[in-house]
Amino acid sequence: MGGIVGYIGTDNAVDVIISSLRKMEYRGYDSAGITILNDDLVTYKTAGKISELEKIIPAGFNGHIGIGHTRGATHGKPETKNAHPHLSSNIAVVHNGIIENYMRLKEKLIEQGYEFLSDTDTEVIAHLLHRTMKDNEACSLIDAVRHIMTKIEGSYAIAVLCTDEPDHIVLARKDSPLIIGLGDKNYFAASDVTAFLRYTKNAVYINDMELVQISPGGVEFYNNDGQRIEKQIEVIEWNEEAAEKAGYEHFMLKEIHEQPTSIQDTYAGRISELEGRVILDELKMDEDQLRNLQRVTIIACGTSWNAGCVGKYLFENLAGIHTDVETASEFRYADPVLCGQIFTLAITQSGETADTLAAVKSTKAYGCSSAAITNVVGSTITRETDSVFFTRAGPEIGVAATKSFTAQLIVLYLIAIHMGTVRGRLTPQTTRDILVGIKQLPGQVQRILNNKDVIKKCAEHYANVQDYFFIGRHLNYPVSLEGALKLKEISYIHAEGYAAGEIKHGPLALISSETPVVAIATKGHTYDKVLSNIKEIKARSAEVIVVANESDNEISKYVDRVLRIPDCHELLSPVLSAVVLQLLAYYTALARGCSIDKPRNLAKSVTVE
Ligand code: F6R
Repeated sequence: MGGIVGYIGTDNAVDVIISSLRKMEYRGYDSAGITILNDDLVTYKTAGKISELEKIIPAGFNGHIGIGHTRGATHGKPETKNAHPHLSSNIAVVHNGIIENYMRLKEKLIEQGYEFLSDTDTEVIAHLLHRTMKDNEACSLIDAVRHIMTKIEGSYAIAVLCTDEPDHIVLARKDSPLIIGLGDKNYFAASDVTAFLRYTKNAVYINDMELVQISPGGVEFYNNDGQRIEKQIEVIEWNEEAAEKAGYEHFMLKEIHEQPTSIQDTYAGRISELEGRVILDELKMDEDQLRNLQRVTIIACGTSWNAGCVGKYLFENLAGIHTDVETASEFRYADPVLCGQIFTLAITQSGETADTLAAVKSTKAYGCSSAAITNVVGSTITRETDSVFFTRAGPEIGVAATKSFTAQLIVLYLIAIHMGTVRGRLTPQTTRDILVGIKQLPGQVQRILNNKDVIKKCAEHYANVQDYFFIGRHLNYPVSLEGALKLKEISYIHAEGYAAGEIKHGPLALISSETPVVAIATKGHTYDKVLSNIKEIKARSAEVIVVANESDNEISKYVDRVLRIPDCHELLSPVLSAVVLQLLAYYTALARGCSIDKPRNLAKSVTVE
C-alpha cells in the first residue's frame, strides 16, 4: 500500500503535495517523500509519517511542479533509503503497487552498471526509464514510460519527473488506482480522490494501461498505443468525509468491497505460478528447521483467532504438522509445553493487541521459532518475532475486521503450502491447483459483491430475530464462528457459531422457529454430514439459510434460503463464505440502525488487558 501525488500549478507545490499526502496517510504511513522540479530535481524523504517529512523540508522551499509519496512498506523495510521518490540521474519516480518481476530486472540493470540505493521494487522503474531515454535520445518521457510498461509486471500507479522535460509530469497505471484532478490552472494526480478534493471536485479516473501527461497548460490522456484519448470528467459530489469512505455509507462496507484488491495485494509477489511454488522471503527458517518442526502453535484473539482456526486445518492438511490454536488471553497465563521444534505464529491485524503481545513474549524462553501475521507495519508485534508476514490489506477503520481476516487467510495458505512443499507433503499438482485457485479468488469475491442484493434481502428478512446460530464442519466450523462474531458485534443479535456435529449435544434444545440457522454447506468431504445436520434442524422448525456453491442444485430443496459462492477448491471456500457472512452481518446491522463502524463497547485495537 501507499499513495502517490503529483501537482502542477500556480500554488506552492510543497504545500499542496504535503496536504494531499496527509489525506492519504491512511494508505500507509511508514515513510514519505517529495521531489520538486525547479531547474533540478530536489528531493526530501524520510522514514516516518508526513509530519517527519515536514520537519526536514527547509523553510521557503518552493516550486510549482512536484511529486510525493506516502508509503506502507511491501518490498524493503520502512527506512529512509526505501522511501519514494526513487531517482535515476535526472529522473524521479513515485509508485504505488508491486513490481512482481523486479528481481530479474534489477539483476540486468546491475549488469548494465546501475547502482541501487534502496531495497524497493520501485527503483527498477527509475533506472529502466533512464536507460530507455539514454538508449534513444529522441525518446520522450511519455514514450519511455509506455516502453517500460511492456517490461514491468505487477501493479502500478506511477508519477514521473525528468529534468529533460521540466514542464511535464507523466503518469500511468495498471491495477492500482490513479485519479487526475482538474482545477483552474492547477492539476493534480493522486491514488485517491480525497487527496485533492479540497482544491477541485472535477476528477478523471484513469483506466488500466492508460497514460497521462500533465503540463502547466493542461492534461492529455493517452492509450497504450500512444493515441490521444478523451476522458470523461466526473464531478465528485462527496464532502471530504464521505470521500474517505469512497462514497460507501460505512467504512465496513468499503472495506468489504476492497477485498478483491486486498487479497490480490497480499499474494502479489509471493506466488511463482511458473515454478508452481510460494516465495516467502520473510520466513526466517531454513528447510531443515521446517522439516524438523513438531508442532505449530497459533496465538491470537477474536477474528484473528478464527483465522488461526482455519490455519489449523491448513497446516494439518497441507503440511502434515499438528497445530494448536490458542486464545492469547488464556495462553498468557497457561503452563505451555513448548520446545525449540515448535513454530509459534501470532496473528494480529493491529499488531498491538495486549494479550497477543504478552502471550508471544511468554514463549520466548522456550527457543521456539516465532512469526507474526499483521497488517500494520511498524506495530509492536513486528519487533517481537523472528519473522513477520504483512497482510497488505491497507488500513482497516471499521471496528469489525473484514478485509484483514481474508488477507490473514491468504498468508496462512501461503505458509502452509510452503511448509507442505518443503516437508514433501504436497505434489506439484496439488500445489499448482491451490495456487491457481488463490489467483481466482479476487474475481470470485467480486462476483459475490456484484450479487449482494440477495444477501441484503435475507438480512432484512431476519433483522428482528433475537438469536442466530451458525454451523459448519471442518474448515467451515471456524467460518461459522466468524459469521456469528461479525453478526453479534455489529447488530447486537445474540449469535453462536457451532461445529455442526455438536448441535445435538446441547444447542438443539434452543432451536425453534424463532432461531434462524446459517449453515455453511460448501462442497467438500463433510458436505453430506452437514446436510444431515440441516435436516435435523429443519425437523425442529427452524429456518435454515445456507451458504452453498453456485453449482449445488440440490441444496435448495432442503432449506429456506441459499446464499451462493462461486465454485472453488474446497480449502479456499472460507475466503468466499466469509465475505457472504460479512455482508449478512452488515445488512442486518444496517436494517437495525446500529452504529456499524463503531459498535458499542468495542475498540479497534485492544491495547489493554
Ligand atoms: C472482530 C475484531 C476483533 C479482533 C481482535 C483481535 O471483528 O475485530 O475480534 O479480531 O480484537 O485484534 P487484532 O487482530 O488486532 O489482534
